[in-house]
Amino acid sequence: MQTDLFIAGRAVAAASGQRFATFDPATEEPIAEVARGGAADVDAAVRAAHAAFHGEWRQVTPAARGRLLLRLAELVAAHKEELAALETADVGKPLKEAKGDVDGVVSTLIYNAGAADKMEGATIPLGPSVVDFTLLEPLGVTAHIVPWNYPLGMAARSLGPALAAGCTAVLKPAEQTPLSALRFAGLALEAGLPPGVLNVVTGYGEEAGAPLVRHPLVRGVTFTGSVPTGRAIMAMAAERTIPVVLELGGKNAVLVFADADLDRLVADVMEGAFENAGQICSSASKLLVEASVADELVERLRARAAKITVGPGKDDPDLGPVVSDEQHERVLGFVTEAKGSARLVHGGARPADLPRGWFVAPTILDRVPPEARIAREEVFGPVVTVTRFTAEDEATAIANGTGYGLVAGVYTRDISRALRLAQTLEAGSVWINGWFLGGQQAPTGGIKDSGIGRERGLPGVRNYLQVKNVGIRL
Ligand code: NAI
Ligand code: MG
Repeated sequence: MQTDLFIAGRAVAAASGQRFATFDPATEEPIAEVARGGAADVDAAVRAAHAAFHGEWRQVTPAARGRLLLRLAELVAAHKEELAALETADVGKPLKEAKGDVDGVVSTLIYNAGAADKMEGATIPLGPSVVDFTLLEPLGVTAHIVPWNYPLGMAARSLGPALAAGCTAVLKPAEQTPLSALRFAGLALEAGLPPGVLNVVTGYGEEAGAPLVRHPLVRGVTFTGSVPTGRAIMAMAAERTIPVVLELGGKNAVLVFADADLDRLVADVMEGAFENAGQICSSASKLLVEASVADELVERLRARAAKITVGPGKDDPDLGPVVSDEQHERVLGFVTEAKGSARLVHGGARPADLPRGWFVAPTILDRVPPEARIAREEVFGPVVTVTRFTAEDEATAIANGTGYGLVAGVYTRDISRALRLAQTLEAGSVWINGWFLGGQQAPTGGIKDSGIGRERGLPGVRNYLQVKNVGIRL
């Protein structure tokens, strides 16, 4: 398979004529030759988005934009099997998860379609001789740089609100996983979005992502990915004084108290730590467990993890491979290092029956010291760590003791403790007695190194609107 860029509603090869290979994580075999976009292609895409913003898209009413996004949602739903198969081929994730991702994209588009004509300004009371009001205006051309863990989900999370707000967009998918974004852009054109409103430039971060952030016609950047890349993007955006929305991952502590519903917790950890092979910014991968229930909990986690099936995503196992050779090495490197100071309870290596493909067995480590690298840095693999505590203060200090601040979890039946911790835990989201709470309606994002800004919900749409104040002396 060969793919092109998608600019001004047309598939075009990269100006350089170059392509690069992407690989099936389950087999390590090449699956596509993808256009290797560079600065010249980024320039063409941004100019197309700029022309669309100042041309046809400007004339579309907010209500009509909403209807176009609804039509796109219908087309995505109608192509669920095809999009899910592309996602599974690229990322390696089980098909049932990929189908769930497509459902999430549909919900996201529907939510933002509904918001398109409901973003209202304000009138400001300044007395009898002045009328003052605000206009909410779209930023213009926005850049969307997304990672490989939820390629379509992350793209829709920012494209949905940007398009609803009336912006136009250039999307730079991750180099590992470009296929679903290209198909999505084709569906957007089919839905009736004017050519140039949504453009896709595939390629590497340095070659295509950086020139996109630096392009003089880009008026805002949304990025999800690693902390170092987020910082680099923010520095580039600072040179041009444009706003950034950054979601940079997490190291999410889950505080488990002795009075918790352990059945629910175990079920939530199986999903929260092993879904998408643990390659989730909001993974439930770092358990802080009250010492009196730790032995029982670790044994229950081990028994459940032992039942997890591992295999190629297309066969719909519980757990697929991780995305790349690089990620495979990284995850196993973390585990190997951690074994020096913690106890390996389960997994910890490639499953013996899967000699090829970037597979990692579901892994549980117990008695992990809070200062260990695996307890402080994002692993992005199917790995759960257990650290024991005796007092609430101690658990809070461990949870707040990393640079990240995306999600924190609390499992307890004590409502006062839960609400106290909701205030003291340093995170953009606190989830109590459940995991992966929220959805497209609820704002999400990080504090500290986990990022800047909030996505989803109406705050997600406001990211793409700027306030203009109009004052009139009567
Ligand atoms: P990355 O942050 O380098 O890549 C994410 C996206 O940014 C990709 O589209 C990439 O092409 C682009 N990019 C890279 N360098 C760029 C630059 N200089 N200018 C503009 N765009 C650039 O993440 P990577 O290297 O794929 O993964 C490393 C680690 O990052 C993972 O192991 C994981 O811990 C974390 N990560 C976190 C994610 C999250 O959901 N917050 C998603 C993906 C990775
Ligand atoms: Mg990188």
